[in-house]
Amino acid sequence: MNLIFLGAPGAGKGTQAEVVSEALNIPQISTGNILREAAKNGTEYGLKAKAAMDAGALVSDDIVIGILKERIAEDDCKEGFILDGFPRTVPQAEALDAMGIKIDKVIEINVADETIKQRVSGRRVCQGCGASYHIEYKPSKTEGVCDKCGDKTVIRKDDQPEVVLERLATYHEKTAPLKDYYEKQGKLVTVEGQEEVAETSRLTLAAVGVE
Ligand code: AP5
Repeated sequence: MNLIFLGAPGAGKGTQAEVVSEALNIPQISTGNILREAAKNGTEYGLKAKAAMDAGALVSDDIVIGILKERIAEDDCKEGFILDGFPRTVPQAEALDAMGIKIDKVIEINVADETIKQRVSGRRVCQGCGASYHIEYKPSKTEGVCDKCGDKTVIRKDDQPEVVLERLATYHEKTAPLKDYYEKQGKLVTVEGQEEVAETSRLTLAAVGVE
């Protein structure tokens, strides 16, 4: 199954994409994580991407589409994949269609902006593997240490309150129109994500047919 997870920054799409990835045993492809890794490694496109990410803006379509094409050509995507954070613009969605990639469902995690501001302020991410935590709702076993790889967990630079406002504005302007795009294709399923993680996971798994 090929799935897209859509939602405002901090709505919980990464959290739910991970749950579905484990349930269906297909890879979760987070363009945000790929870009952060490239920025950390100082690759040419990583450095270009870093400036946009730190400002809460989107990275250019040509860079992200190129990354995505390479990633879904890898062997582990043959049985399906979850796109977490891609597409983010109508041209990215059109590029995906032009590649002849069949998408089965687009899961939108719907959360009010006010809840999002509160959620991202408590998020911590692993500086090594990118795993995501929340100080209140999903704490790591040892504070400040990643459960998965043991590296340090830190506050993402783009989780500063003023950058979050910018990311939300970017989402409403550039990404929200994708809801219409996929609604017209009959693929959009909206999951209400206001409740606690376990309840949202139950709704999300049901939406992809895992009971
Ligand atoms: P990206 O990493 O994709 O960030 P984002 O879309 O802003 O999404 P987040 O990772 O912030 O949120 P999420 O919805 O995954 O929430 P999470 O599950 O972590 O992209 C970063 C940047 O990269 C972009 O701004 C852009 O510059 C660039 N980029 C990436 N893709 C791009 C593309 N395709 N085109 C162009 N540029 C691109 O949850 C948030 C927090 O809340 C966590 O701490 C979590 O534990 C907690 N939480 C989750 N669910 C719940 C719940 N139900 N109750 C309580 N807490 C919860």
